[in-house]
Amino acid sequence: MPSRADGVRHPHAEELRIGLQVWDTPAMTDAALRSRRLALRPLREQDAEPLVVLLGDDRDAVLQMSHMPWPCTPAAAREWIALRTRPGTTSFAITRADDDAFLGSIGFGGLREMPSVGYWIGRPFWNQGYATEALQLVIARVRGLGAKGLQAETFPENAASARVLAKCGFRYRGVGRRNYPPRGGLVQVCVHILHFATRDAGRTRESSCPSTT
Ligand SMILES: CC(C)(COP(=O)(O)OP(=O)(O)OC[C@H]1O[C@@H](n2cnc3c(N)ncnc32)[C@H](O)[C@@H]1OP(=O)(O)O)[C@@H](O)C(=O)NCCC(=O)NCCS
Repeated sequence: MPSRADGVRHPHAEELRIGLQVWDTPAMTDAALRSRRLALRPLREQDAEPLVVLLGDDRDAVLQMSHMPWPCTPAAAREWIALRTRPGTTSFAITRADDDAFLGSIGFGGLREMPSVGYWIGRPFWNQGYATEALQLVIARVRGLGAKGLQAETFPENAASARVLAKCGFRYRGVGRRNYPPRGGLVQVCVHILHFATRDAGRTRESSCPSTT
C-alpha cells in the first residue's frame, strides 16, 4: 500500500481493481436492501463526512480493514467512496432505517462465483448486531445473483469479525498470508467461507481463527 505525498496510504490501483471490479450490472446497488433495523443504500459523496467522524480517530479499527486509507482524512474518505460508487461496484452504506444515521459500510467483489465481502461499523454502534444484520442482507443479495458462496478474511486478533461471520454461517477454513504494508508486510489472515449449496447459511458455527480461541 503506497504512501503518497499527502501522507495517506492507499492500496495499489491494481489491488483495488481486483478487489472492487465485479459484476457488469450497473444497477447492482440501485435498489436499497432493507431489514428490520437497517437500510443498505449505495454510498454517496456526502458519506465522507460521517465516515471521517466514525473512523478519523480510530486507527485500530481502520487497521482491521485492508482497503481503508490511514490517516482517514476527508480527502482520503472522498477518494475511497469515489472508487466505490462507479457503475458496477457493489458497496453499500449501512444506515439505520429509523433515522438514516450512517453506521458503516459493506461491500462485495472479486470472483463472481465466490465473491469476497468486507464491512465495518463505527465504534459507537458496535455490539448491537448491525454488522450481522447487514451481512445477512448481502448474503441474500449475493445468493440471489447466483454465486456459490462468499468468502471473507479477518486478521487473527479480530474475534468480533470472526464472530459476525460465524453467526452468518461462515466456517473458518484456514490461514493465508497477505501483504499489508501498514501492518509491516506479510501477515496472517484467517479465511472464512460460506457455501450456499451446503446449507451453511443460517447456521451458527464457530468461525474463529485458532489464535482467537
Ligand atoms: C467487526 C465489526 C464489523 C463488528 O460489528 P458489530 O456491529 O459490532 O457486530 P455484531 O454486533 O453484529 O456482532 C459482534 C459479535 O462479536 C462479539 N464480540 C465483540 N467483541 C468481541 C471480542 N473482543 N471477542 C469475541 N467476540 C467479540 C459480540 O459479542 C457479538 O457476538 P454475539 O452477538 O454472539 O454476542 C466491528 O467491530 C468493526 O467494524 N470493526 C472494525 C473494522 C473491522 O474489523 N471490519 C471487519 C474486517 S474483517
